[in-house]
Amino acid sequence: MCGIIGYLSNEDKDIVPILIAGLKRLEYRGYDSCGIVVCNSKSETLIEKSTARVKKLEEKAKNHPFPANMGIGHTRWATHGLVTEKNAHPHCDCKREIFLVHNGIIENYKTIKEKLKKKGHNFISETDTEALAHLIEHFFKDNLEDAVKKALKLVKGTYGLAVISSRDPKKIVIAKNASPLVFSINDGGEVLVASDATSILNFSRKVIFLEDKEIAVLTSKGFKVFDMESDRLKTKEFQELDWTIEKAEKSGYSHFMLKEICEEPEAIRNSIRGRIIAEDGLAKLGGLEKVQDKLREIEKLFLVSCGTASYAAEVGKYMLEEYAGISTETDIASEFRYRKPILTKKTAFLAVSQSGETADTLAALNEAKRKGILTLGIVNVVGSSVARQTDAGIYNHVGPENAVASTKAFLSQLSIMVLLTVFLGRQRDMSLVMGKRILGELEKIPDLMKEILKESEKIKEIAVKYSRYRNFIFLGRKYNAPIAKEGALKLKEIAYFIHAEGYPAGEMKHGPIALADKNFPFFFIAPSDSVYEKTISNMEEIKARNAPIIAIATKGNEEIKNIADDVIYIPKTLEMLTPMLTSLPLHLFAYYAGVKLNCDVDRPRNLAKSVTVE
Ligand code: G6P
Repeated sequence: MCGIIGYLSNEDKDIVPILIAGLKRLEYRGYDSCGIVVCNSKSETLIEKSTARVKKLEEKAKNHPFPANMGIGHTRWATHGLVTEKNAHPHCDCKREIFLVHNGIIENYKTIKEKLKKKGHNFISETDTEALAHLIEHFFKDNLEDAVKKALKLVKGTYGLAVISSRDPKKIVIAKNASPLVFSINDGGEVLVASDATSILNFSRKVIFLEDKEIAVLTSKGFKVFDMESDRLKTKEFQELDWTIEKAEKSGYSHFMLKEICEEPEAIRNSIRGRIIAEDGLAKLGGLEKVQDKLREIEKLFLVSCGTASYAAEVGKYMLEEYAGISTETDIASEFRYRKPILTKKTAFLAVSQSGETADTLAALNEAKRKGILTLGIVNVVGSSVARQTDAGIYNHVGPENAVASTKAFLSQLSIMVLLTVFLGRQRDMSLVMGKRILGELEKIPDLMKEILKESEKIKEIAVKYSRYRNFIFLGRKYNAPIAKEGALKLKEIAYFIHAEGYPAGEMKHGPIALADKNFPFFFIAPSDSVYEKTISNMEEIKARNAPIIAIATKGNEEIKNIADDVIYIPKTLEMLTPMLTSLPLHLFAYYAGVKLNCDVDRPRNLAKSVTVE
């Protein structure tokens, strides 16, 4: 995930080491390129960028000693445009007088860019951020903060922003909307800004966190914070942080996995942001636009992936067949690459991969390319191999996942499957009303997930209670059959002393039921959907054999308590969207069971985040 650092003092000195130290603290978040700009009291500037590690940037900067009194720096995790020095931040205006670093996404950057190009602005990068630098230039008259305020009024999207200008030196202007920013000023008049408390703790523990829609002007003499909408000055107090660096890296959570599970609602928001045209019931997937005519002709889709991503693909199959009317096959990449699938010109291949580097997924993709069919990707890592090698695709936009087991990226994959279903469905027979309904309900999902997160303590209690068992079967039907497999996979990955398998509930009678006894718990995913009654019958059969039962059910379903020993409730939503609500408690269950068993939940034994060998 991108990171921001900014520093200001009241005299020229070697400030590069300060910026570099701040960037190094942000490295744990993951990044692909980095850069800094510094400005001295004569309004001269120096910019350095690198597509390698911060260490390389440090070496480059050492070759050009440049005393300065202010500077900003950035670690970039690409979202718009490939990993190149031109796309790395800081970005600047035409005259190289305004510099900015930005976390987040400017959704309407294309419109802004086109308008500014017509006015003669010269763009050098492919990023959304550069549009903002030029927009600030466009408004610049007397001072930097006024120009930033005017520019941000026209911006749709999210940002954590730090801006400096040689035209209005000795100040850093920062602004926030949905992307964190924190700053501190010490008695010596030094200012430090960062997107992450990890970079500030060594400087000071007295900090101010900016709130959404706030803009601040920071100088050696002090700070002013304004509300962006009313332009009113706000009173802000410093708060004392008692976090260790390690705790700050995890934003106060005990593990990355828990942090990333708690970020699942936000992951969905980030994945669907700017991609819904509510009034037309349409999904806007910019990455598919160039192949949309070909997609209209497609009669069959192959969704190919590995691990957790393969379960998102399986859920996608149910959605695409039921709502887009497209025949869909899913396959594990390591199988697809060695079989002889029937691929006609009306077939498209879709790789689903968080990392975009999984060896089997890449090999399957190459096989599909060799057969000359349209290839697509759903990928989180921008510029990764899958992203580069497919004809078109959709990015997840959820930032890096640190924990080995995929959680927030999985939820994002599910939400993109919904968008894809509406995109393809509306090209076919899906009605405006249906498109609107699905997208309207999808937009509510993050808030519904937050309701489930409030039940974390209860889920923890259940996980701790059941962590003494050594075997589990997870069962679910239709949309939740793949989620049963995901629940089992997570449990055996994270709480690796427990063996677990996931099955479509109807298959239970063809084997797993033989295992049912008082020492073998069954975990049922049973929302109130079109197959609820069937799932309940399976549950009764297990109950009759004295096996302990945990169930996930829809709020208001009291009767299920007569069968299940423990129930986790989820709010009501459309059947096709229930997997997003049922997988969250399963992720928490695996996490808490793993912690109880003293497992290394972030780095489980024998597993790798990205499996780049066959
Ligand atoms: C590994 C990871 C899983 C992931 C799978 C597929 O097994 O531990 O969390 O689901 O690879 O990775 P991909 O990057 O292709 O989604």
